[in-house]
Amino acid sequence: MSKFVIEGGTKLKGKVNIGGFKNAAVAIIPATILCQDKCIIQNVPLIDDVNVLGEILTEIGADVEFLDDTSISIDTSNINECYLKNGLSKKIRASYYLLGAGLGRFKNASTLLPGGCDIGDRPIDQHIKGFEALGATVDISDDGRISVKADKLIGNKIYLDVVSVGATINIMMAAVLAEGKTTIENAAKEPHIVDTANFLNSMGADIKGAGTDVIRINGVEKLRGCTYRVIPDQIEAGTYMIAAAATKGDIIIDDVIPKHLEPITAKLKEMGMGIEEYGDSIRVFYENELTPVNIQTLPYPGFPTDLQQPMTVLLSSLHGESMVVEGVSEDRFKYVNEIKKMGANIEYSKKHAKISGTKNLKGAIVRATDLRAGAALIIAGLVAEGITEIIDIYHIDRGYEFIENKFMNLGAKIRRVKED
Ligand code: UD1
Repeated sequence: MSKFVIEGGTKLKGKVNIGGFKNAAVAIIPATILCQDKCIIQNVPLIDDVNVLGEILTEIGADVEFLDDTSISIDTSNINECYLKNGLSKKIRASYYLLGAGLGRFKNASTLLPGGCDIGDRPIDQHIKGFEALGATVDISDDGRISVKADKLIGNKIYLDVVSVGATINIMMAAVLAEGKTTIENAAKEPHIVDTANFLNSMGADIKGAGTDVIRINGVEKLRGCTYRVIPDQIEAGTYMIAAAATKGDIIIDDVIPKHLEPITAKLKEMGMGIEEYGDSIRVFYENELTPVNIQTLPYPGFPTDLQQPMTVLLSSLHGESMVVEGVSEDRFKYVNEIKKMGANIEYSKKHAKISGTKNLKGAIVRATDLRAGAALIIAGLVAEGITEIIDIYHIDRGYEFIENKFMNLGAKIRRVKED
């Protein structure tokens, strides 16, 4: 077990490079099983969720090899079935993509119900609705195993009752090899939907409309291997942007797509942060006292739920009142109890947090309750007076590569301490 020890009070300065998008990589890696061939995926983030997916694919017979720090070669020609025997699938949320991808290639797949962050009820009824509309039967056993199978998959029109990233990608994966046309209406529009669709199209799929709320898929007979580069991580970049604001810093964030950061850029500008956009980088700099703003998380292009927690910490550290409304996740304010230990003044329910900001956050021993809450606590530690210790940082390692090194390079006083 390790913990982070942070000494607060340093303004972040310098340059940070952003890695590949976790939420795109964890969809694209399972999608490789849709072909019976070798794919090279570049700009893969070095995070635990990617390692777990590598183990899962190896378990079902793929040949998975890291070519260098950020490229991975996946040969799926020797996989015969997509049946995940052990509990690896419980470690991450994205294991549910094995269902759509396995259904697409083998017309049959089985995993344990997915794990991932504890941010409230996270049903997958829309994934199931999509699979069934394509002709599959879905069975969930009492011990939490989900199995999907079909004699054949036939394209259909599917309207999602909830805008769901996971369901949109999973249905796309099941539909690319189905017979005929599939239309997904009320589809999610996040950048990683577009990235996954681009990857599938590079393998020979015929998907149009990704990035809009109607996605049209013409089924094809076969997909082939390809080389593909994952887009930059919008959430990782947003985390450093918010950290720069919280510490009154001045940083350049490299290897980003500024367009994907607009929901965050808009809010930080509204608060008074200086932002300059360049081709593939962005400068975020403190100019004048920041003013609190209200936030509501929404599906893309709304403010991302994955940055609600870092943003709540930033707002907690400013003088004045603000309101955060969680419009995507069911119960994403549990971590608030941890920042309250540092002196934050927040009243919250499942969907709302009312913040009375204070400039007197103080270091404390706190627990990362999930991935993004962990990142938020790092930001709180950077702002707080004194020493903060964050335990259960394995949550953070699931989704942020080299996080302490990246913050250290920006001048932060943070170290990872191994405990027995
Ligand atoms: C994915 C991301 C996660 C991000 C979230 C929202 C991955 C691995 N995870 O999670 O980082 O926070 O998108 O951007 O990419 N819902 C249903 N039924 C469904 C599906 C979803 O009711 O079948 C509801 C749930 O309340 C769920 C919410 O919609 O919490 C968002 O779901 P979805 O967009 O699918 O997100 P996740 O797959 O949970």
